[in-house]
Amino acid sequence: MRIDILTVFPEMLEGFFNCSMMARAQKAGLAEICLHDIRDYTTDKHHKTDDYPFGGCAGLVMKIEPIDRLITDLKSQRHYDEVIYTSPDGETFNQQIANGLSLLENVIILCGHYKGIDYRIREHLITREISIGDYVLTGGELAAAVMTDSIVRLIPGVLSDEQSALSDSFQDNLLAPPVYTRPADYKGWKVPDVLLSGNQALIDDWEFKQSLERTKRLRPDLLKE
Ligand code: ADE
Repeated sequence: MRIDILTVFPEMLEGFFNCSMMARAQKAGLAEICLHDIRDYTTDKHHKTDDYPFGGCAGLVMKIEPIDRLITDLKSQRHYDEVIYTSPDGETFNQQIANGLSLLENVIILCGHYKGIDYRIREHLITREISIGDYVLTGGELAAAVMTDSIVRLIPGVLSDEQSALSDSFQDNLLAPPVYTRPADYKGWKVPDVLLSGNQALIDDWEFKQSLERTKRLRPDLLKE
């Protein structure tokens, strides 16, 4: 899978995608994450990516030309399944959306900034608008990082079998059960006996009951869905 991220601050994302699981997924050839600086697609001598809005309201709006030029350039090289715009107006990102996007071949994520982007980009170039929650960020870069991380880790082979994404919280609308590691007794704080029993059926049953109990207590809304 290839994800092209369009931003005026590629340096905000470089470190993130060069670490840990995201770096491993790319080195293994399972995911290609390409950062593009929108500024490189400006044609004026000041490399302006934003301008004052028509109508006189405050703030700056991202200009249409460099973004259109960049998207057109990418589209001339391959077919894109979705052109996503990160925006607090969009549908709220969740595990189901991540699952669906992880099955796609090529995706563009456009990071918004300032007061937004020229609305014609949303009308003519964007196929989907996604928010990562009901709060406003200064830009879409963190949203692009959050979405890309949760999509890429679902690609088969990115996680090992033991870490399988299938056992994640939310995959079946249940929170994950508690996990523990050695030592089994730390200052008298003990790991539940069942996990040391070696009886897999009992362990599976305990984990399911824990998931259910934690979901009822912490996220009852998930059980109603
Ligand atoms: N840009 C600003 N706020 C955002 C949010 N909550 N989700 C996605 N993109 C954003």
